[in-house]
Amino acid sequence: MGHVLVTGASAGIGEALARAFVARGDHVTVVARRVDRLQALAAELGERVSVIAADLSSSAEADRMFAAASSSRPVDVLVNNAGVQIVASVGRTDPDAADALLAVDLGVPLRLIHRALPGMLERKRGAIVNVASMAALSPVPGMLWYNAAKGGLANASESLRGELRGTGVNVVTVYPGPVHTDMGTKGLAAYKPTLAARLTPWGDTTTLARRVVSAVASGSARVIYPRPYWVSLFANNLSRWVSLRAAPPLQEG
Ligand SMILES: NC(=O)c1ccc[n+]([C@@H]2O[C@H](COP(=O)([O-])OP(=O)(O)OC[C@H]3O[C@@H](n4cnc5c(N)ncnc54)[C@H](OP(=O)(O)O)[C@@H]3O)[C@@H](O)[C@H]2O)c1
Repeated sequence: MGHVLVTGASAGIGEALARAFVARGDHVTVVARRVDRLQALAAELGERVSVIAADLSSSAEADRMFAAASSSRPVDVLVNNAGVQIVASVGRTDPDAADALLAVDLGVPLRLIHRALPGMLERKRGAIVNVASMAALSPVPGMLWYNAAKGGLANASESLRGELRGTGVNVVTVYPGPVHTDMGTKGLAAYKPTLAARLTPWGDTTTLARRVVSAVASGSARVIYPRPYWVSLFANNLSRWVSLRAAPPLQEG
């Protein structure tokens, strides 16, 4: 089994991913700012977990983190999962927080791909997992910067898969719909509780993590979860239309 680097593993989907890769027998390096939570996870999961504290809104921190993670063993699987979300109208969004979002959700993931790829290409094996969002396929009003970042990450990820065909390095793009985590709960609370909001299918972190691990093992191109959201891939114009028309208004309005 290999060495998996999971960013944003102190909570939610990243924590579930760390658990799932450890269960598969991998060594997992977990990264986030809340080091106490990472240490608690490592204490629970045992020797096969290494902890690195880093603020991934900073390129320099990301470089330092990657150098530390790969110093004792090469990174076989890079999981770009760390993310932040801002649900607010454009005028009420702090532009500095928006810049930080673009760094964490888009700029730094691409930088980490740039760091991880040479070693993977040299060894002719590896995988890069990019946790995008359904917002990349069907953007939801009220999240300008998040939609931009996740759309950018998903497009980059899909194109990278083509660029790396035949190299032995796989790329998996993950499109979660709403999943029960802190981010999911806060995002929902920012919208008015309309019927459409109540009918939205939700998923759980454990099932999503299991699907991501299977996709890495099988070399699949993408994970779309929960399943009803597959319609967004095959009927994208329709799903974009529904998303723009049926999205609940923001609470702030
Ligand atoms: N939950 C959903 O409904 C949903 C839907 C679609 C896509 N996603 C995507 O799935 C990924 C995980 O989201 P989640 O729902 O699990 O969110 P979450 O529970 O809020 O966890 C976010 C993780 O990202 C880390 N993170 C945030 N800012 C960071 C920074 N500056 N430096 C380092 N780490 C940072 C957090 O760690 P610290 O705070 O400790 O640094 C935490 O571990 C994100 O990319 C998100 O956009 C989530």
